[in-house]
Amino acid sequence: MAFPTETVYGLGCDALNPDAAAKVFEAKQRPQFDPLIVHIADRRQLDNVVRALTITARQLIDQFWPGPLTLVLPKQPTIPDLVTAGLDTVAVRMPNHPVAQALIREAGTPIAAPSANPFGYVSPTTAQHVADGLGRAIDLILDGGPCPVGVESTIVSLIGPQAELLRPGSITLEQLSAAIGPLSRSSSVVDQPTAPGQLARHYATQTPVTILTSAKTRPIPTKYERAGLLIFSEARVADERFAVVEALSATGDLREAARHLFAALRRLDAQGLDRIYVEPCQEEGLGVAIMDRLRRCAAL
Ligand code: TXA
Ligand code: MG
Repeated sequence: MAFPTETVYGLGCDALNPDAAAKVFEAKQRPQFDPLIVHIADRRQLDNVVRALTITARQLIDQFWPGPLTLVLPKQPTIPDLVTAGLDTVAVRMPNHPVAQALIREAGTPIAAPSANPFGYVSPTTAQHVADGLGRAIDLILDGGPCPVGVESTIVSLIGPQAELLRPGSITLEQLSAAIGPLSRSSSVVDQPTAPGQLARHYATQTPVTILTSAKTRPIPTKYERAGLLIFSEARVADERFAVVEALSATGDLREAARHLFAALRRLDAQGLDRIYVEPCQEEGLGVAIMDRLRRCAAL
């Protein structure tokens, strides 16, 4: 069953049931080396999922849950190997969305859920996106409207000696280090990913994506090319060199841009364009997560 969270739609199953998890991997055609995030509705459920909480974990939980922050912690044996891809750690978060919370409470069990898209494609931020990608493979979609955040949760590993940012998201590095001090950052491209979020090409459109080197340079698309353009503010929407122009925000606001990012990429991807050009944004705050997703989309 697919359900909305504040970040993106998830494809959920009972996190304690390996057969249910197997169905999720199958529906998404997701490789089994890619572990799932376990979603909980309240603190009591955490004891069934993780073995031990450090002081750092408690600080992050107190400050950011419920919300778009996923923590990697030592797992309880009750969590099946398939959910964690055989790792002895588990990724867990408490979503801040009334539908997700109600679903987990009604289910009476933690819910394991990856983003509700076919493996490798752009994550879904509306029920329609889920239906477009997985409609044939799943039986039910809870429609909670568009997701208010729009990019996947920030993932922090608390396994090593120092907290490590595994995936940037809307809880920013600045917010995290204000709460717990410095974090290390995993290099974004690794050969042996613990996590496919770390695969270079992921969250990708079918149409090739090129990120422009600065917001001011624009290549003229070759005359053989039908190109789309993705920009951050509405100021320069009219540009006859491009078949389609999508602006992510009226004013260049990054929260609004993140909320619209995946829907805009999907609309551009549906136009049969030869190429999508993307203007970069400042890599600060939420801009780090947005550029991370765009780079993965552009990776070959
Ligand atoms: O916002 C989100 O996090 C959404 C919503 C549905 O909650 N979920 C999501 O799930 O983005 P998914 O499966 O698309 O991405 C989960 C990421 C993957 O890159 C996975 O490898 C990583 O979390 N992950 C899961 N368990 C892990 C673990 N034990 N250690 C390191 N990374 C882990
Ligand atoms: Mg995903």
